[in-house]
Order: sequence, then structure tokens, then C-alpha cells
Amino acid sequence: MQEQIDQYTTEIEAFSPANADELEAFRIKYLGTKGLIKDLFEQFKSTTPEEKRTLGKVLNQFKQLAEGKYQLLKEHFDSQVTKATSQQDLTLPGEGFAVGSRHPLSLVRNEIIDIFKRLGFVVAEGPEIEDDWHNFSALNFPEEHPARDMQDTFFITKPDDNTNPLPPGEGRGGAYALRTHTSSVQVRMMESGKPPFRAIMPGRVYRNEAISARAHCFFHQVEGLYVDENVSFADLKQTLYHFVQELYGEGTKVRFRPSYFPFTEPSAEMDISCTICKGAGCNMCKYSGYVEILGCGMVDPNVLENCGIDSKKYTGFAFGMGIERITNLKYVIRDLRLFSENDVRFLKQFKSDIV
Ligand code: PHE
Repeated sequence: MQEQIDQYTTEIEAFSPANADELEAFRIKYLGTKGLIKDLFEQFKSTTPEEKRTLGKVLNQFKQLAEGKYQLLKEHFDSQVTKATSQQDLTLPGEGFAVGSRHPLSLVRNEIIDIFKRLGFVVAEGPEIEDDWHNFSALNFPEEHPARDMQDTFFITKPDDNTNPLPPGEGRGGAYALRTHTSSVQVRMMESGKPPFRAIMPGRVYRNEAISARAHCFFHQVEGLYVDENVSFADLKQTLYHFVQELYGEGTKVRFRPSYFPFTEPSAEMDISCTICKGAGCNMCKYSGYVEILGCGMVDPNVLENCGIDSKKYTGFAFGMGIERITNLKYVIRDLRLFSENDVRFLKQFKSDIV
């Protein structure tokens, strides 16, 4: 029996199958239910107790050798099979991958843009680092006027000419700042073109505020401007009313309250009936039934003149809203900081149509 085992061992060690069929034949020959190992164990039963002592160990080692060899070769052929199939059929669909989703602020910004686009508004953009003229002076904020304190500003020391972020000649007024609103883009647009203007200005703006659940040092705005002959406050109201019906659904009520902005006269703040409780009163609207969503007004003639537009001939309206606020009223997000923390558990709740 020892001799037999030795012979099989040499055979097994030398065994090198060319394919999976040969390996299967090997399995049947040695490890099968009627295989050689089974035979050897049968023979083992009829050996003497002394023989058993030595042979038992040898036989078990032999069995392990055969099984180990088989296992190794089987893994080898299995992996070849997977490789071969993927190589052979290149038309099989690829593995899917997650595409992510749009940020809620982008979703809402795009929705706002879509609504105004249908009304004939184009999208205008401008720099986030602004000079004093475009962010303040041209917009009728006189220097040293307390109205400048309405917007806590991050000022930037004027860089030397080599590193000036703005094109030459645009540094009137001296100081630079991170823009506090996208009204600066309105100024740039009016300065460089001729009326009529009908545009919206989406973009990021900055205010020097302590970060909390309700305020952040940056946020996003969409401002709008319409300048032409005979533009009236009625046009402003109708445009914004239409916008609200489109964004929050038919039947949403609007309300205008007189307000003050240096660049508009008259000025107003617009409220809408609370989107959460539909006007019944809840936490979101502080039980008033209404929430404020934007500031607006007729462009102050001084602003038009500052931008080289004849204020006797042209009139216009402007408005500005924070996208975070508009988004809050759609999705009820209780903490503003969630918008900029990049927490995927928050972000993946917003499904979009992008692929
Ligand atoms: N620029 C104003 C702000 O950021 C919003 C606004 C724009 C108000 C246009 C009136 C008209 O607070």
C-alpha cells in the first residue's frame, strides 16, 4: 500500500492538466466516489493495527495533497473562464456606476433660470471680486453713507498692479471687496450695452456674518433687471407674480411691503403665502402665514445715469433673491450650513434628471 501511495504521489505532483476537462478527469480518478483514495481507505480497513499506526498518517497526508492540488488547479481554470468570457463578448453591458445628483441649490437655481428664460430674460455673470464702484458707488451708495452697513462686507486690500484681478481701469473708488450682491453685474451690463436690458444674474455673494444655522459668510443670489422705455411697477409686480406661480404653484399669494434700497425707488420686499402651511401659520412663517422671499423696486434714476443711461427716456425694475431661502421654502432645510458641508447623506436626497 505504501508503494502505491508513493506512485500516486509522484503522479499527482507531476500532473499538469491542459484544460478543465483533464482536471475533472483527475478529480474523478482520485477524489471521486469510486476513486482511488476511496479504494485506499477501503484497503486501510483490513490492515493490521501496527500498519494502521504508520499508514493512517501517510494516507491522510496523501488525501490532502490530492485535494490541495485539485483546489489550486480549479481556481486557476475558474479565473480563466471569467477572463475568457469578458474577453470574448465585448458587447456585454458594462458595470453600472453611480452618477451622483445635483446640489439642491443648483437644482433651484436652474429652475429659476428656466422660468425667467421663458419670459425672455438672458443670464449674465460677473466677477466675485468687485471694485467699490460696481458693488456700491454706481448703485447709489454714497461713500460714508450708512446704507453701506446694510451689507457687512469683506474688503480686500488693493493688490499692486501686477496682481490686479480686474482689467485695467476698473478700479475706480479704490477698494476691492468680495461682492455682497450680484447687483454689480447689473451695473456692468448697463455700462457696456444699450437698453433694452432683460437679464438675470445668478451667482455667489459674500457677507461678513457669523456662521450659524440661519446665516453664512457666503450665499447665492439671483438678481434680475429689466430696463426699457415705459417699464412700470405694474410690470414688476406681474413678472414676479408669474415667477412665484411657476415656482411654488398656482394659487400662491404674493404681498408687497414698502422697503428701502439705495439703488431702487420706490423699493419693496415681496412675501409669498407660506409654502409649508399654505398660510395657516407654522414654524417656518413664524405663524404669520407669509414669508419674505425677495427685495425689488424701480431702478433709481441715479443708477441709470451712473451707467450712462438716459433716465428721462428709460425706466426699469430690479429684484434680488437668495437661492438658499427659496430652496428652504421648497425643501424645508433647517440649517443653512448643510448646503456647504458636502455631507453625502444630505446631498443624495436630492434626485435630479442628470445622467
Ligand atoms: N441687492 C439687494 C440685496 O442683495 C437685493 C435687491 C436687488 C433689492 C434689486 C432690490 C432690487 O440685498
